Amino acid sequence: MTGALWQGMVAVETAAVIDAAHRLGVLRLLTTSSRNATELASDLCLDPPATNRLLDTLVQLGLLRRDTGGSCAANPAAVRSLEKVTEAWGALSTVVRTGIPVTQADTADGAAAFYPTFARQLAAWFAPAAARLGELLSPPPGRILDIGAGAAPWSIAIANEHTHVTALDLPAILPVTRAAVTEAGLATRFSYLAGDVFTTDLPAAAYDLALIGNLCHLFSPELNRSLLGKLRHCVRPGGRIAIVDVLPTTDPLRQLTISRYELGLLLRTSAGRVYPLTAYLTWSAEAGFPGLTPFPLPSDPPMSLLLSQTA
Ligand SMILES: C[S@@+](CC[C@H](N)C(=O)[O-])C[C@H]1O[C@@H](n2cnc3c(N)ncnc32)[C@H](O)[C@@H]1O
Repeated sequence: MTGALWQGMVAVETAAVIDAAHRLGVLRLLTTSSRNATELASDLCLDPPATNRLLDTLVQLGLLRRDTGGSCAANPAAVRSLEKVTEAWGALSTVVRTGIPVTQADTADGAAAFYPTFARQLAAWFAPAAARLGELLSPPPGRILDIGAGAAPWSIAIANEHTHVTALDLPAILPVTRAAVTEAGLATRFSYLAGDVFTTDLPAAAYDLALIGNLCHLFSPELNRSLLGKLRHCVRPGGRIAIVDVLPTTDPLRQLTISRYELGLLLRTSAGRVYPLTAYLTWSAEAGFPGLTPFPLPSDPPMSLLLSQTA
C-alpha cells in the first residue's frame, strides 16, 4: 500500500469518528456542559466503554478537552471550524460538477463572512511556521504592513520593541486581529487599517516590509500582479516583500496534501490556485521586488517564505 493511500484511509477513519460524534449528539451535548464517559453514555443511551474510546480520540483530535477528573467539554472554536469545513467539503461533488465555489473567500464580502471563524485556528495551525519566519526575519525591519493579517500569526512572530506593524484586513476581521495582538502583549506595537487591500489608499513609501501571508493563493494571477504592483508604491525604495504561501513540491506525500489543499480552493474561490515559484518570481520582478528567494517553513500543507532582496 502506498503512503498516500494509507493517508487516505486514515482520513476516512477520522471522518467516521467525527461523523459518529455528530450523529450521536456527543459534540452538541459537550458544547453545553461537560460530562465523563459514564454520564455521557447514560444521557445518550450509548455503550460506556465504547463512548470512552470515542472520547479519547476526540480529545486527541483537539475537539474536546478532558479535565483531571475525566470530564470532557467541547472546544467550541474547534467544533465550529470543523462544522464549517464539514459543510464546505460536503459540497465537493457539486462544486466539481459545476465549477462554482460554495463560499467566496476571495471577495471582500465572502472573506468577511468566512474568516472570523477561521482566523484564530489558522494562526494556531501556523504557529511552528510563524516561529521559523520570526527567525528568518530577525532582526525585523521597523515598519511592517501585514496585508490580510487575520489573527496576525506572522507579524506577531516578528514584532518587537523596535517594530511597528500596520495590520490591514477587512473590518469584520480586525476585532479578531486586535484580540490576538492584545493576547500576545503587543498592543502598543500595532495599528490597524480596515479595508479591502485592492481599494484602500495606502501611504507612499511608508513601510520597510510588506507581509502577505496566505493571501495570493485566493486570487487570480491578474489580481496578484495588481496587488504586488500596489505594494511597490507603499514600500519604501529598497524595502522588501515577504510572501508566505504554499508551493508545489516533487515529494509525492507532500504533494498529496497540496493537491487536496488546491482542491479545497475550488470550494471557496473562483480563481484561487497553488501557484508555482515561477509565478511569484515573475509577479515580484515585474512589480520591482528583485531576487525573491524561497525558504521552506515547517507546516502542513508545506508553506514557504518568499523574501525579496533589498534593491
Ligand atoms: C487565508 S487568511 C490568512 C490570514 C493570515 N494572514 C494568516 O496567514 O493566518 C486570508 C486573510 O486575508 C483577508 N482578506 C481577504 N481578502 C482581502 C481583501 N480584499 N482585503 C483585505 N484583506 C483580505 C481575509 O479576511 C483573511 O483574514
